Amino acid sequence: MSHIDLDTLYRQVIMDHYKHPRNRGTFDDEPLTVEMNNPTCGDRIFLQFKLDGDVLEDLKFTGEGCSISLASASMMTQAVKGKTIKEALHLSELFSKMMLGEEVDFEEFGLDDIEALQGVSNFPPRIRCATLAWKAMEKVDQ
Ligand code: FES
Repeated sequence: MSHIDLDTLYRQVIMDHYKHPRNRGTFDDEPLTVEMNNPTCGDRIFLQFKLDGDVLEDLKFTGEGCSISLASASMMTQAVKGKTIKEALHLSELFSKMMLGEEVDFEEFGLDDIEALQGVSNFPPRIRCATLAWKAMEKVDQ
């Protein structure tokens, strides 16, 4: 696939998650909730978790943010649902590496969509947008 085709595909993947976010909403009961804000813009994300032992059985998010932050939140919730906390933290670590410009193969985890955000690493001010939900998720371990 040419570079331009790939950029178009990635843009479409991001917009799909932004317009049709997966796992957006709240649970009716009162599960563990964490909040994280992006200090550069004030946007906030709220994450709710349902844990089964050390497994992230289910999670949902709400909040305000740009297309990058909300698409990333949607992708993150898909990626970590059903994973152990340790596995989820490992994925977050890989995502941070990708934001630093490192090559990361998310396809090996069946998480191809996340690679659509790799171009964000070229725009440092947007990295906080992309990592917002992931940093919120990391709080589940604190
Ligand atoms: Fe606020 Fe992206 S501009 S999270």
